[in-house]
Amino acid sequence: MTEDIPEREARSFDNAEGATFFITQRDGAFFAYQNLCPHLQTELEFLENQFLDQDGEYIECSTHGALFNVETGECIAGPCLGESLQPIKVTVHSDGGIYLD
Ligand code: FES
Repeated sequence: MTEDIPEREARSFDNAEGATFFITQRDGAFFAYQNLCPHLQTELEFLENQFLDQDGEYIECSTHGALFNVETGECIAGPCLGESLQPIKVTVHSDGGIYLD
């Protein structure tokens, strides 16, 4: 549900295959990505649901500090510069539910 993911926060989820992904909200829109850093294919967060940097401005990999644009998933700083997180398509329904497409 949208209220479970406040603006500039993120929450992780498991899909049916057991892979983890996360959803974050920015300016009222929701963005979802697989929880895999393109640098070493490791999970991004060290603490539960901590996918954003201190200012909540960028998605941050906790391993080597790569930063990713929230809206596009593109790495804008760090060892995987120019690579991108794998986006997941989600749709917000009128009941406030967020559904994988
Ligand atoms: S594993 Fe993410 S920046 Fe190195």
